Amino acid sequence: MQTLMFPFKPRFAVLTICCVVTVLLIGLALADPALADIVILPFLIFGALALLGFHDLAQKDHAILRNYPIVAHLRFLFEEIRPEMRQYFFESEKDGTPFSRDIRAVVYQRAKMVLDKRPFGTQRDVYADGYEWMLHSIAPKPRASEKFRISIGGADCAKPYSASIFNISAMSFGALSPNAIRALNAGAKKGGFAHDTGEGGVSPYHRENGGDLIWEIGSGYFGCRTRDGQFDPEAFARTATLDQIKMVELKISQGAKPGHGGVLPAAKVSEEISRIRGVAMGEDCISPAAHSAFSTPLDMMAFIAEMRRLSGGKPAGFKLCVGHRWEFLAICKAMLESGIYPDFIVVDGKEGGTGAAPLEFMDHLGMPMREGVNFVHNTLVGFNIRDRIKIGASGKIVTAFDIARAMALGADWCNSARGFMFALGCIQSLSCHTDRCPTGVATQDPSRNRALVVPLKLERVCNYHAATLHALSELVAAAGLAHPSEIRPVHLAHRLTGTGVTSFARLYPHLRPGELLEGTDNPRFAEAWAMARADSFAPAG
Ligand SMILES: Cc1cc2nc3c(=O)[nH]c(=O)nc-3n(C[C@H](O)[C@H](O)[C@H](O)COP(=O)(O)O)c2cc1C
Repeated sequence: MQTLMFPFKPRFAVLTICCVVTVLLIGLALADPALADIVILPFLIFGALALLGFHDLAQKDHAILRNYPIVAHLRFLFEEIRPEMRQYFFESEKDGTPFSRDIRAVVYQRAKMVLDKRPFGTQRDVYADGYEWMLHSIAPKPRASEKFRISIGGADCAKPYSASIFNISAMSFGALSPNAIRALNAGAKKGGFAHDTGEGGVSPYHRENGGDLIWEIGSGYFGCRTRDGQFDPEAFARTATLDQIKMVELKISQGAKPGHGGVLPAAKVSEEISRIRGVAMGEDCISPAAHSAFSTPLDMMAFIAEMRRLSGGKPAGFKLCVGHRWEFLAICKAMLESGIYPDFIVVDGKEGGTGAAPLEFMDHLGMPMREGVNFVHNTLVGFNIRDRIKIGASGKIVTAFDIARAMALGADWCNSARGFMFALGCIQSLSCHTDRCPTGVATQDPSRNRALVVPLKLERVCNYHAATLHALSELVAAAGLAHPSEIRPVHLAHRLTGTGVTSFARLYPHLRPGELLEGTDNPRFAEAWAMARADSFAPAG
């Protein structure tokens, strides 16, 4: 029925009108051949537009033309005349949009494997406050093969995972369309990197192409919940032991809406999603702000150990955006007290993305990625447990320099969500929450989803990954290093003001190994350390 309603959807109106007018003109000419001279010109115009419209529906290169036949050409036309005009055609270019046109252009070019080199020198103001650069070496190393990987899995992990250092960050089926999930997973399969499911459960679209999955469970326990929304260990074990699942991740929070839980607007809760998640249709699908399976740091560690056991010994960890510092120190105290250690921690920055979140949460809650990664890295060093746990970073990490910077701050690998959305063809129209995504990436509307052509987009996802790691291997070699894991704060510089330049090593000082074990007078940690307790997230005293 949906398909039959195609012509009546507003975005197909121009095509429908052209078809109707063309047929009417043919009818007129057949009814009265004397009118042929009069109707020939409008017939040629409307007929040509109708043909163009059908071509747009059938072509595979531009998802936006498949969703907005004929009218979307205006966007390309204005793009040619005055690129900034295109913000009036589906895209937001206004100040403050998450990603600039330049950054998105880099991703689009790498995804399409078109030349991403630049002529004539940098367009950045290298004397601007806050400008940052990496320091190269007089003795650069030969460029390493770009298959940079790390092994994730500590002493208690029976099945460590060899992960790429750049992977697809959590984005649930629901927030993203079936074809987007298919293309991401098939791209990950082809490129040998991992795809995080997000908190919406493991859908058939994740399973079709067999790409490595990191299964994330949030406070909604989608895909492993009882009728009343509690965690269901049997259901969890059934999925977690699948070969395709390489790691299991507990979602504590994400940067764009920390402490808010997940929201899938009612408009996007289709029959299929309600079945996969085990929730009611037509209502906002809310993941509670807090977990019900644990309520203290010690319980949380026990829950992670249980996830690892139920998955058959796969790496188990958690994702958070750092909030109260004492809470993270409390988790580390619980690790020492219980002897249970996660295999990894993913630190998401407050600048991270989301399908939908309240403004105040997006703008003013949670620690930005850099401070978060550096704080978590330092805390683990301070508790002498850094070598047991790998750190992943996410939050506006799109280019090779972003990866290098996050690794200098303490990350072992990086995840990107919106970078891979751009590779899928996202044009940042900021309509993810409306179900009217113009490129079929973030929608559950089948007629919009069809615009995203999986065989084409999986290549783009894979290309973007490969080209970004290639650029990283060049950066690493130019700095005289062999692997990104060798990048240290001393390798990066930051312009404070005017001639004031400092090294990241000064900007982000490191703790000494074990410095936190007996308490500390380090002003950045002392207060939080004293407030942290393993048996409660509430501050002591
Ligand atoms: C459409 C969308 C859906 C997301 N869904 C989830 C989710 O289900 N679970 C989660 O932990 N993070 C989720 N995130 C956050 C991302 O995984 C990521 O941590 C954040 O966007 C930062 O990465 P980025 O700057 O590369 O987008 C989502 C982000 C986007 C844009």
